Amino acid sequence: ELRVPFIGGNWKMFKTISEAKAFAEVFREIPRNPGVRTAICAPFLDIPVLTEMFAGTDIGVGAENVHFEDEGAFTGEISLPMLKEAGVGYCVIGHSERRQYFNETDETVNRKLKKVLSESSITPILCVGENLKQREAGNEKSVVSGQIEKDFDGLTPEQAKKTVIAYEPIWAIGTGKTATPEQAEEMCGFIRETVKSIYGGAVSESVIIQYGGSVKPKNVKEIMAKPDIDGALVGGASLDPEQFAAILNYME
Ligand code: G3H
Repeated sequence: ELRVPFIGGNWKMFKTISEAKAFAEVFREIPRNPGVRTAICAPFLDIPVLTEMFAGTDIGVGAENVHFEDEGAFTGEISLPMLKEAGVGYCVIGHSERRQYFNETDETVNRKLKKVLSESSITPILCVGENLKQREAGNEKSVVSGQIEKDFDGLTPEQAKKTVIAYEPIWAIGTGKTATPEQAEEMCGFIRETVKSIYGGAVSESVIIQYGGSVKPKNVKEIMAKPDIDGALVGGASLDPEQFAAILNYME
């Protein structure tokens, strides 16, 4: 298969170190479909316990953000060398919550993407998506293609290919309001077309595109059945090991 399904968890600001450990103890024992790639993106403090608990398994560990400088007077930030030494395999970049509450812009997202792709083998998970106002105005496509163009600016085809894109309509995040599988597919297909227009078909056919926004065990199968949706980025439902495993085992 050209694109291996990839379903990641994004814990956001949930779980202390001991809570992360308790999750990992249960989660790593649950049988999972080996044909679905997975990773947990977690708060920085939880990363060491997760990499230790998941060593020797196929469960990846990711961060939720990174700074674009190696080091410096940037109180409260975490750099790429720090993430590399911690052994993470993934890093979420440009989540809508960071864009909304922490001043993340397409320019900083672009700098972070370039940094991660040129100086590490960490897989970036780039989040894009429109808000409710933009969708109601019929602007969802121009918003998302604008984000892709700016966030990918200056990236080589090789780098673009390695980037996982998560389409997350802001109005569907944590609201219990999922985009319909048709809406999600339409936008993921549009994102693939946008990547094609920049980098050509070889890149656009191999780039992994996830859907994110209220993905649950009960709706994942229908979402994953869509041809342009290669995976999911799961928030709330990734906090419970049984629920997240049920999502990963959607084919059963
Ligand atoms: O990164 C994950 C998304 O923001 C989705 O979150 O599954 O809680 O709606 P949610």
